[in-house]
Amino acid sequence: MPRGLFITLEGLDGSGKTTQIKRLALWMQQRGLDPVITRQPGGTATGDRIRALLLDSGSTPLAPMTEMALMFADRAQAIAEVIEPALSAGRIVLCDRFTDSTEAYQGGGRQLGSEAVLNLHHLICGNLQPDLTLLLLPSLQASLTRARRRNERHAAETGQDENRFEQEQGEFFRRVWEKYREIARREPQRVALIEGNLGVDEVHEQIVETVSERLVSVGHHA
Ligand code: TYD
Repeated sequence: MPRGLFITLEGLDGSGKTTQIKRLALWMQQRGLDPVITRQPGGTATGDRIRALLLDSGSTPLAPMTEMALMFADRAQAIAEVIEPALSAGRIVLCDRFTDSTEAYQGGGRQLGSEAVLNLHHLICGNLQPDLTLLLLPSLQASLTRARRRNERHAAETGQDENRFEQEQGEFFRRVWEKYREIARREPQRVALIEGNLGVDEVHEQIVETVSERLVSVGHHA
């Protein structure tokens, strides 16, 4: 049985990844391919519990190292339970976020650095690499505008000081964005960068073009 194909989607919050993964899955299903769709954090029963911890830590914020360790705990479980078995069975796996997210958010955003993330990836994930990563990266400006809108909602809900919050978040997202760019430059064979402020249909077309080429090159005929 030939090994399946591991495809990940990456991008900043609100980049439209989730819509695109659904459309890509549908496109594949219409061609008789039956992808396994999963996401991180989450995607397993254990992972959903870890996700709940990550997204709602109550009144005490998680230390950056705790956050990174939980991301990898989630990922180790997803690899063992979902990703490896599917790839071994020859299936296509579509995964919403993977280690590039940890490198961008914890390595870049939280400033833990790429080296720590890549070392942990080696140890905990057996260095499993996606065959293809689709990175949706609108301009920094557009990404910041989205982050700002979210912050305004957050400030209205929690009564936090909007300006302080906005400034901190803006810098955080800038570092995440820059780290994603760095990953794309470092690994151009693996990472397909979908840049610019494109509409949903245009992004879908670019994704389909990239994925079709990859499927043909590994012997799937889409
Ligand atoms: P999610 O609701 O999945 O966001 P999105 O729909 O935008 O993907 O929440 C995941 C959040 O967790 C998102 O803000 C990115 C963050 N994250 C990390 O910080 N590190 C990681 O390794 C992963 C997988 C996600």
